[in-house]
Amino acid sequence: MSAENRPPQMDYIPAEPRHPNTWAPHPRKKMVMTPLVVAIGGLIAYFTVVAMVVILPTTTFDPPPSPNNLALTELEEQGRRIYLANGCIYCHSGFTRPQDIAAGLHYLYPRISEPGDYVAPDQSPNTFGTERTGPDLSNSGGFHPDDWHIAHYKNPRTVTPISVMPSFEFFSAQEASALIAFTQARTGKLAQIRTQHQLNMKQLLIAERNLSSTLQADYKIGFPGADNLANLMMMDRGYWFESNPLPVTQENLIRGREIYRERCIGCHGVKGDALSPALAYLNPPPAAFIIADDAKMASDTSPGAYYWRILRGVPGTAMENFGTRLSVEDIWRVVMFLKTIPNGGLTKTPTPDMYIEWVGYPQLFTWGNCFYPEQEATNPALMYADNSPEGIGDVAAMVAPGAVNPEYAVILYMVENQKIPCGAEDPNMSALAIVNAAANRPTENYARMGSSQLQFIPANLISSKNYGDEWLNAVWNKPVTSP
Ligand code: HEC
Ligand code: HEC
Repeated sequence: MSAENRPPQMDYIPAEPRHPNTWAPHPRKKMVMTPLVVAIGGLIAYFTVVAMVVILPTTTFDPPPSPNNLALTELEEQGRRIYLANGCIYCHSGFTRPQDIAAGLHYLYPRISEPGDYVAPDQSPNTFGTERTGPDLSNSGGFHPDDWHIAHYKNPRTVTPISVMPSFEFFSAQEASALIAFTQARTGKLAQIRTQHQLNMKQLLIAERNLSSTLQADYKIGFPGADNLANLMMMDRGYWFESNPLPVTQENLIRGREIYRERCIGCHGVKGDALSPALAYLNPPPAAFIIADDAKMASDTSPGAYYWRILRGVPGTAMENFGTRLSVEDIWRVVMFLKTIPNGGLTKTPTPDMYIEWVGYPQLFTWGNCFYPEQEATNPALMYADNSPEGIGDVAAMVAPGAVNPEYAVILYMVENQKIPCGAEDPNMSALAIVNAAANRPTENYARMGSSQLQFIPANLISSKNYGDEWLNAVWNKPVTSP
């Protein structure tokens, strides 16, 4: 760069102005942070935080009880003390966060916990917990029936083979019943409805099992047997005749067997014959999968019907809802695997040629149309989804309080009339007709959903095995046999 092009240089930089000598000098620097000042300052800061975080909220935050809030009974209170004393809280939390709802959507966690859930005096100290080694239990009321809990506390591995929960078999029968009462009481009023639904379904399914043997017959009578009908009524009709969408490959079958061993073997048995360690505790008993003819023809065993029951569970029985624990593909894989069991899928490595294709039988499809014709499909009385109460979670076949439950109505119809609706004897009695008849029946609460529903179930249906203390004592003291 030539000299002419240079930017003009400043040849004079003005000096910093000096402080005039007349100004006062700075004071001498002095250490103000003496230990005493630090201590006092620290205490002021500490008590400010305590006041803001502890004192203010506890004195000014007084939420009204949530609509769900329900005080515990004495037995449930006792169960709560057992829960705290046995360290259940180290593995189980007691509040549902927004992210749990996203994960469990309609399944395990139907609602986010709110402060009003914890205002009752019996909620102190709270059972929030912090560890989630096991599932959150704030919504455990009615999620499993009592017999599942008995088998589970006795030895969690009988019902959940991969569980890390310790066994609590040292409880007395009385302690177990208190703990179960507490578990079934969480969360409040919703839990009450769900638990009652479990009890109702149990009574109905047991009554239905006691129907005359001709009504229990399988497809050879031309129409689905009563137990199949009860099952079908509980599931979305779209699944009744559905086949498996995945290809029958060895890979899918082996994965299906893996799931069976991890999740199902404790109840359905090492041979798939339901002679399992859990059998001693469960009523109704687990299903067996060993009959080839059933896998092929029987009315309720289409792959879709199996899928639905594994996805949603069977209320009133120990059959669990695997919706949050298994992926859609894995449920279809285990369904596929079940249909190799009659050909040795459990004893040898399952291969595609062991798979039994479901065919159904012609009358089943005729029956399906009679029982639930298209025009009825649009009737809200039969639509569980539109009709189910908010926050109930994924409890199949639940309807809003006061509404007629089609499931109850149909099983009661069978038990009272000793007839299969839409069967040979009663070809015109469709589900809609039964539900309408139930709605118009004068007896209060007949087949209606409510919180005191056992009263509507005719006394002769209530089984002798009523799950009272005597029964509990008997099963609790039974030793667990290894499979
Ligand atoms: C070491 C951790 C641990 C302890 C302690 C523990 N659990 Fe569990 N619990 C689990 C795990 C893991 C599961 C999930 C697997 C299973 O179903 O067993 C579970 C499952 C459950 C379930 C079923 C939940 C569902 O949604 O299916 C209940 C109910 C339960 N536990 C109650 C209790 C009670 C009551 C106690 C105390 C007496 C207790 N647990 C102690 C780990 C624990
Ligand atoms: C806690 C015990 C238990 C566990 C675990 C369990 N089941 Fe079940 N299961 C049952 C009971 C009890 C029934 C009978 C329900 C009834 O009477 O309708 C049943 C019924 C079924 C049915 C309906 C069969 C029919 O013909 O009616 C299928 C399918 C099924 N279970 C599959 C499975 C699969 C797959 C798993 C594992 C992912 C599993 N179950 C885990 C107890 C269990």
